[in-house]
Amino acid sequence: MSEFLPFTRPTIDEDTIAGVAEVLRSGWITSGPQVKAFEARLSELFGGRPVRAFNSGTCTMEVALRIAEIGPGDEVITTPLSWVATSNVILAVGARPVFVDIDPDTRNIDLARVPAALSARTRAILPVDLAGLPVDRDALYALARRRSLRVIEDAAQSIGSEWQGRRIGAIGDLVSFSFHPNKNITTIEGGCLVVNDEREAGLAEQYRLQGVQRSGFDGMEVERAGGKFNLTDVAARVGLGQLPHLERFNARRRELARAYFAAFARHGAGGLGLALPRPDFTHSNWHMFQVVLPEERLALTRSQLMARLHEEGIGTGVHYPAIHLFALYRRMGFKPGDFPHAEYAGRNILTLPLFPAMADTDVERVAEALTRLLRANFRGS
Ligand SMILES: Cc1ncc(COP(=O)(O)O)c(C=O)c1O
Repeated sequence: MSEFLPFTRPTIDEDTIAGVAEVLRSGWITSGPQVKAFEARLSELFGGRPVRAFNSGTCTMEVALRIAEIGPGDEVITTPLSWVATSNVILAVGARPVFVDIDPDTRNIDLARVPAALSARTRAILPVDLAGLPVDRDALYALARRRSLRVIEDAAQSIGSEWQGRRIGAIGDLVSFSFHPNKNITTIEGGCLVVNDEREAGLAEQYRLQGVQRSGFDGMEVERAGGKFNLTDVAARVGLGQLPHLERFNARRRELARAYFAAFARHGAGGLGLALPRPDFTHSNWHMFQVVLPEERLALTRSQLMARLHEEGIGTGVHYPAIHLFALYRRMGFKPGDFPHAEYAGRNILTLPLFPAMADTDVERVAEALTRLLRANFRGS
């Protein structure tokens, strides 16, 4: 049998590995010159906007909410189909998440449904570019402007994605990225926040490290309680080694995604009711290739299917179960039936292998195995 194919795997080059060794020998391993250099390169990438690096793409969103002064009594509109971090950070600052169902075509928040969810307490929208497919930024910011709302973009998955020819992060309000190993570029763990001006950058620094403001050799003041969210220089060196490959990685992801569409067409996936992702080759960075299984036509569960694929040496993932159905959120009053599109996707979505080092033959292998297993367990409509 061929080698096990995971659903994702980072690509770290030898120069980066050598660079990390150098940092480890340098005598300075926590936040320092590598972080500064990484932030400068990220800022270039995002059109010169101020950027600060953090140790996750979760704390970046929490800090963004704090910069926007969102807290107890406030409501934040978000999607129920995301990594639970997206709404956990809203709870972390004491605000309330207000979920709005997804558009089953994009699998992102359905902006047309947002106006009905707004209240006098709504302060912000926190949209997610699931799988790297950007939420419509024109519609998003038109809405935000009309209702005087802040936007915290959870762009954890959309580094290198574009909206109308402009890079995500180079436009918008507060934009958060993650560099978790599954992402299109990594710092092992880490993230960054793009802010609007130096005042917000200063606040980001304070919230990043205990609220501390330094001056001179010995001056220290604390005006607000910050966290411990700083990135290490070792991690930043990994990020510096990844950035030059971003375009190439994303181009390869696009190529593989095109190959998936062709392979699924060849294997007749349409006739099996398998929902493929939106074939967007303009905006998306193809962070993931996700299919939605035809639940009502299948004689096996998603879990059984994942197990069968695993037996054939193919790794898959679930991104994500609907957030509002987790116990924590049910206790807040959310229940099955609240967001039917997100719930259907949450039960049936499946992430297939997609990463730059994958071979074209891997795509064929996955498409063949998946369609064969679906066909063998097909109940018809
Ligand atoms: C959509 C989304 N939001 C937030 C996060 C949180 O990022 P991190 O794992 O770096 O905290 C992730 C990634 O894990 C994500 O995919």
